[in-house]
Amino acid sequence: MSEFEPKIVAFCCNFCAFAAADLAGAMRLQYSPSVRIIRLPCTGKVDALYLMKSFEDGADGVFVAGCLEGQCHYLEGNLRAKKKVAYVKRLLAEVGIEPERVEMFNLSSAMGGRFAEIVEEMTERIKKLGPVYKDGQKESVSS
Ligand code: FES
Repeated sequence: MSEFEPKIVAFCCNFCAFAAADLAGAMRLQYSPSVRIIRLPCTGKVDALYLMKSFEDGADGVFVAGCLEGQCHYLEGNLRAKKKVAYVKRLLAEVGIEPERVEMFNLSSAMGGRFAEIVEEMTERIKKLGPVYKDGQKESVSS
């Protein structure tokens, strides 16, 4: 039987996490190909609906990666994103999905190594949890 390969969606701020992902690539750091990156001008743009929709569309894990706290280019976008991630954790728990499937991270554009670590950390976490939908659970989320 083949090993479960999770699908992970990463909502990344253009100024930090996306640049860090780019740096990780330039440094030729190895990380799991399980992640699909969505570039945002700031994580403050992320909406709880986007995070929930990612799960509905088949993601097994989702993370939001923004600038370090106090360094958001739009002042408090990353703090707003942190609150939205906490809200989505509660929503997931309400529909019977493990809240650990969604996470918020903060990093700078110079942290290419940390970006690769985050991807590995999330991939391992989601592999332990298994696929998001088990035995018709999807219907209870999308209805
Ligand atoms: Fe990076 Fe706001 S500009 S999180």
